[in-house]
Amino acid sequence: MSEKIIKSAERVKNIGEVFTPKKTVDFMLNQPEIKAKVNSLTATFLEPSAGEGAFLVELLRRKLSFATRQSKDINEMQNNFLLALSTLYGIEIMEDNVEMLVMNMANTFRDVYFKTFKSKEQSQKVLKSANVIISANMAQGDTLKRVTATGDPIIFSEWKPVGKNKVQRTEYTFDAIVEGDGPVGSVCNKAEQLSLFDEPDENDEPKPKKYLPVKWEDVYKQLTN
Ligand SMILES: C[S@@+](CC[C@H](N)C(=O)[O-])C[C@H]1O[C@@H](n2cnc3c(N)ncnc32)[C@H](O)[C@@H]1O
Repeated sequence: MSEKIIKSAERVKNIGEVFTPKKTVDFMLNQPEIKAKVNSLTATFLEPSAGEGAFLVELLRRKLSFATRQSKDINEMQNNFLLALSTLYGIEIMEDNVEMLVMNMANTFRDVYFKTFKSKEQSQKVLKSANVIISANMAQGDTLKRVTATGDPIIFSEWKPVGKNKVQRTEYTFDAIVEGDGPVGSVCNKAEQLSLFDEPDENDEPKPKKYLPVKWEDVYKQLTN
């Protein structure tokens, strides 16, 4: 079956949209430096022009396969699946592409999950948590300007493993990540802090949004302090 790599000549001209064929994706991901990172549960990838996920979907497949080989028991494997997923980030400017990107990532995770675990081992919580991670890690926005379609800063979550089976989620602006700033104050939830009638206070320090450490399968609850 031939792959569709172009949606329209106009889109190629306007936004340089040409999707990468699977053969090329495989060739690039087979490079030794990349392979070493794929075969790591914690090495992160950011696709700054993600399209519909040609690279991210294949990275996810390979990381899940590594997680399967790496884990000693079912619980560890389920946690490692979510950890592997949490290391993949994407930014894409076009709304329809982001929708496909999110769907392709979610379907890939779900398909591999169902193939790997028998029905009585499966947990709906894992799939719900996977969807939360995918939504948090795939941003619609302009990588060059570091903002979303509405002009707000692009925000990404760090998913830091805590102990054997927990994770600590912390949000950072993409800008802070690129500039190498620390976590404190890197996420500015101004929209949450100000009501329509509040006078903006010059001294208001932006508050970093920090989530409670939870088990990987409870990420979907999105519990904050
Ligand atoms: C050459 S395509 C590659 C897509 C995907 N990486 C692949 O290999 O199939 C470039 C993608 O970048 C997106 N894009 C263009 N300008 C962008 C920007 N400033 N920020 C984020 N995405 C952008 C386009 O919409 C398009 O989907």
